[in-house]
Amino acid sequence: LSTGPLAGRHVVVTSGPTQEAIDPVRFIANRSSGRQGHAIAAALAALGARVTLVCGPVAVPDPAGVTVVRIESARDMLAAVEAALPADAAVFAAAVADFRPADVGTQKIKKVPGAPPPGITLVLNPDILATIARHATQRPRLVVGFAAETETVVPHAQAKRLRKGCDWIVANDVSGDVMGGAENAVHLVTAEGVEDWPRLPKEEVARRLAARIAEVFA
Ligand code: C5P
Repeated sequence: LSTGPLAGRHVVVTSGPTQEAIDPVRFIANRSSGRQGHAIAAALAALGARVTLVCGPVAVPDPAGVTVVRIESARDMLAAVEAALPADAAVFAAAVADFRPADVGTQKIKKVPGAPPPGITLVLNPDILATIARHATQRPRLVVGFAAETETVVPHAQAKRLRKGCDWIVANDVSGDVMGGAENAVHLVTAEGVEDWPRLPKEEVARRLAARIAEVFA
């Protein structure tokens, strides 16, 4: 049996990008490495939590002591998160594709000589964070979202916290080399206020966040 301040608690974490199919061989994705989300899953497990990590395609290794559920699309990620409930807390660190191609053909889209390139019509993906934060019957006690911004980081994060219905937003300034990088400079936005954390290795951001989550369940 695990010990630690989060022993007996279940935490769901999302991490990495999603991939949205265009046709059988092509997809839309983004530059998320999964480093921050995976580090959070590891840090929560180190404090004794049972962790379900729902993640898109990443190159980083599976964290030790964590149940990993691999998915590709945003819709798959939402289904996997819902299947993992109930949870005491949920941390949504994944970089979910906001849009997906409306129609996914069964055949590879062909280049037709002389014809203009085809257009791709996009439709909105479900918002996993907002869905779980407003879940009618199984809302985790603590729901944490992320906000990657390049300007007016904290005001945007405060608005996002209210819009999505989550408890905390971990806001990071991604105008520099944060995406895929080793360090992160974040602000923790809660109902009580804003904490500015120094620029830290992603593992240390994860440890601090896990410790703050443990305080909630102390
Ligand atoms: O609205 P925005 O994408 O900036 O919000 C970021 C937060 O929402 C992150 O926590 C991200 O994991 C989550 N999100 C989500 N599902 C989406 C889009 C974002 O869970 N479709």
